[in-house]
Amino acid sequence: MKSLTHLESYKALHRHFMAMKDVHMRDLFKENGVRGIEYFLQIGDLKLDYSKNRITNDTLNLLFDLARECDLKAKITAMFEGEKINTTENRAVLHTALRNRANSSVKVDGIDVMPNVREVLQKMQKFSDSLRVGSWLGYTKQIITDVVNIGIGGSDLGALMVCKALKNFGHPRLNMHFVSNVDGIELQGVLQKIHPETTLFIVASKTFSTQETLTNAFTARKWFLDYALNEKYIAKHFVAVSTNKEAVREFGIDLENMFEFWNWVGGRYSLWSAIGLPIMIYLGKENFLSLLEGAYLMDKHFCNAPFEKNMPVIMALVGIWYINFFGAGSHIIAPYDSVLRYLPKFIQQLDMESNGKQVRKDGKRIDYDTGPIIWGDTGINAQHAFFQLLHQGTHLSPIDLIASLSKRGSLPEHHEILLSNVFAQAEAFMCGKTLEEAQAEMFNEGFSEDEIQRLAPHRVFSGNRPSNILLLDEICPRSIGSLVALYEHKIFVQGIIWDINSFDQWGVELGKELAKTILSELKGGKIQEHDSSTKHLIQIYRQFNLN
Ligand code: F6P
Repeated sequence: MKSLTHLESYKALHRHFMAMKDVHMRDLFKENGVRGIEYFLQIGDLKLDYSKNRITNDTLNLLFDLARECDLKAKITAMFEGEKINTTENRAVLHTALRNRANSSVKVDGIDVMPNVREVLQKMQKFSDSLRVGSWLGYTKQIITDVVNIGIGGSDLGALMVCKALKNFGHPRLNMHFVSNVDGIELQGVLQKIHPETTLFIVASKTFSTQETLTNAFTARKWFLDYALNEKYIAKHFVAVSTNKEAVREFGIDLENMFEFWNWVGGRYSLWSAIGLPIMIYLGKENFLSLLEGAYLMDKHFCNAPFEKNMPVIMALVGIWYINFFGAGSHIIAPYDSVLRYLPKFIQQLDMESNGKQVRKDGKRIDYDTGPIIWGDTGINAQHAFFQLLHQGTHLSPIDLIASLSKRGSLPEHHEILLSNVFAQAEAFMCGKTLEEAQAEMFNEGFSEDEIQRLAPHRVFSGNRPSNILLLDEICPRSIGSLVALYEHKIFVQGIIWDINSFDQWGVELGKELAKTILSELKGGKIQEHDSSTKHLIQIYRQFNLN
């Protein structure tokens, strides 16, 4: 395949960019009084206003040409049909099979994966039901009140994000805890709050070899056994979620208590699998199924809608426009509802671990930008922290402002304040404020001519700063399912355009390998060859702790 920058559609986009780069969105809105209505899409519970982007119909058409030249349609089909598109690991990529709510088969190597998917889902349902109704008892016949998920990255962030987002749907008796850091403090903090007789630990690890997770899991096991004094009681208090049966057995968890998933589920795409067990326990099977339904709705839309009306495709291509033509290096996720506070972190892993790549699928070095830095925070707090740079700084930083429409809840008047801020921020990013407007405003406020001359430039906002507004009718399992699937597919499309493998993560391996050597050195072992800085740091640690 030709390199991206040599594609005809890319060259045409580049020419178009030269004509567009100084066009102000203010003018685009003036020229077209219904732009806000035309550049708007609704899929299920999600509404996307993408009108406040530096695009015209010509831009979009050229971007759709690019998608066609990259064979996007065929590549979507290949993913959904179980082709081994994760070429560096020779694996299919089938998180979509986990939420396939139709009766259709999905085959990998000629074998339908759906019977196994349904079987594990049923096992999860049975188990979570028994915990929720209180028929699953601890070894002293006490009801479980606390569930601790021990996992990291994809085995942590998805379940954590969804449980927090859907707190209102959570079981009132169950306290959910998530431990990922190996610093000891996090686990200790949780252990102080719980009791061995009433706690269930879920050890969640796709590989069951992740150092942080296994260290925390062994410590939790020891803490439990120090109290329970008999290994046979582990069966009532520890379950595993993994693809690695051998390692689970070795850890001492009965395979009866293991919830399986498969190597065709990427860690960061796994919340729909048994990795979602904490979600099902906390929210119940109906809500978990609604989450899957929401994602399935987005899957069908992604597969069937023409590019011109396809929400993930449009979000992805507009992202490409900023990254590859305007040179935008980052993208901000700003959810306004506080229950969505973990969404930026979740999307950060999803996007950056998927598209943070520097070689094409054929191994050739890339000469264009790929995945942006994803960052963010709850919007309203971010307004009082880092939005200053977004409004007046020198970087172009596209942003997704995400909020729920429904003002149901105990303090509805608060929700109006929240939404007014969402809309106002997007308007301010787009319109900005000219020098003339700033001067006129100061004149009306009674400033002297001198003060106006001196201060007005500081009050200028260049505007023309892009944003998407994503509205969820309400925050519920279905809308969250659709939202996550939307971002998954957006990231997939960008990976296709950049011709990279979005489904491996070799970049996290080197640090893990080096840490193994350094760990034995920190413990007093022979110090191996290192650069002078690393050696010095190891010595400092040893002097500090070993003497
Ligand atoms: O180190 C990165 C990573 O492999 C992620 O891709 C993954 O989500 C996380 O670690 C946890 O891995 P596991 O589920 O195998 O413990």
